[in-house]
Amino acid sequence: MIHNESNIDGFFDFKSVYDELAGNICSGEKFAEVGVFRGASLVHFISKTKELGKRVECYAIDIWKRDHEFYTFFCSCMTYNVNDVVKPIRAPSDIAHYMIPNKSLFSCMLDGCHKYQSVVTDIQNYLPKVTNCLLGHDYHIPSVAQGVQDTLGNSVKINGNTWIYYV
Ligand SMILES: C[S@@+](CC[C@H](N)C(=O)[O-])C[C@H]1O[C@@H](n2cnc3c(N)ncnc32)[C@H](O)[C@@H]1O
Repeated sequence: MIHNESNIDGFFDFKSVYDELAGNICSGEKFAEVGVFRGASLVHFISKTKELGKRVECYAIDIWKRDHEFYTFFCSCMTYNVNDVVKPIRAPSDIAHYMIPNKSLFSCMLDGCHKYQSVVTDIQNYLPKVTNCLLGHDYHIPSVAQGVQDTLGNSVKINGNTWIYYV
């Protein structure tokens, strides 16, 4: 786990990617993160959009297998005053996507299950939702890289451990 400046421990090593995205997204647009854990990355993203004077509603999608993980995320949102724009969906990503209309998100980050078939399914389910870009974390994991290449080909951009596909 990585200890972040926000004091929310997690697996957040894509600050520069989220900072750029926060700059590009407009107020009133929506964002989703699949695989939220305690909220390290999502809370950072929302804080950045707020710093820039934007209001961006964000779906927070995670199974939060243990209740205390969900409560920790909930507390993170309250502590950092981002609870007003967070819409948690506590469900597997292949169910949660039914709650989100096509083309209703500016962007979506995939950081949930990293098994090959889940990566492929998440890309297939969430690509139709976005109007700007689909992103994902942990590209260094072979099952993730293979799933991304098999569905999106070589047109993804890589930034550290993060892949980005512009639609
Ligand atoms: C690597 S962590 C996410 C890290 C987070 N983005 C951060 O900044 O710390 C992966 C998360 O994905 C969730 N997850 C695993 N399988 C999932 C699935 N099928 N649907 C939704 N969430 C899932 C786990 O519960 C876990 O919280």
